[in-house]
Amino acid sequence: MSTPEINPQARSVASTQSEMTEIILPNDANVLGNLLGGRLMHFIDLTGALAAFRHARTHVVTAAMDHIDFIRPVHVGDLLILKSSVNRAFTTSIEVGVKVWVEHPLTGLMLHVASAYLVFVAIDDHGQRVRVPQLIAETADEQRRYADALLRRQHRETEVARRRQERMATASLENPGAAARRDSTIDSQ
Ligand SMILES: CC(C)(COP(=O)(O)OP(=O)(O)OC[C@H]1O[C@@H](n2cnc3c(N)ncnc32)[C@H](O)[C@@H]1OP(=O)(O)O)[C@@H](O)C(=O)NCCC(=O)NCCS
Repeated sequence: MSTPEINPQARSVASTQSEMTEIILPNDANVLGNLLGGRLMHFIDLTGALAAFRHARTHVVTAAMDHIDFIRPVHVGDLLILKSSVNRAFTTSIEVGVKVWVEHPLTGLMLHVASAYLVFVAIDDHGQRVRVPQLIAETADEQRRYADALLRRQHRETEVARRRQERMATASLENPGAAARRDSTIDSQ
């Protein structure tokens, strides 16, 4: 794969920080008036993409969104505050952290609703992956998130490999002939 460096200079975490505020409307909610989980994930994806884009300064696609806990419900009329920043940049991928709060419209009280880590991959106008700039982690918190992002990447890689093995095992149970043919092709290479 060629990974041209379209924008190689290193960037600070602060330069990637992004924020979105949404007022929750009936169209975002279920019949109980609570924000739908899928809608929350959509807002998280968008806010994460903003930070990834500010880092890469090219198109980004979502490669993965980690496990999310929905800590408390959000109601119609609440304000949703989402903040994102890049935790670490790798070769063509970028890990972003997103934290979400609900702000009570009358009291202004802010409560933590959800957090998520997402991975975005930078691509050019032709859909080819491109190298991303390095990230400069300056503060102690930024350096902690930077170190933790590498551990999460290793965990994701292990999981992706495990799921791939699982898919191959299922495919060979469902279609043993094709699996045998595939194995003999591999042996002959
Ligand atoms: C994401 C995508 C570009 C990766 O392309 P690929 O050819 O499979 O790339 P590779 O496996 O060689 O990995 C490329 C990079 O993506 C990262 N990556 C790929 N799959 C990943 C996953 N599931 N989780 C985290 N990172 C992942 C790799 O770690 C690698 O990062 P690096 O360059 O920083 O080392 C490709 O799978 C894609 O286009 N997916 C669809 C994206 C999309 O449409 N998103 C919206 C979803 S609704």
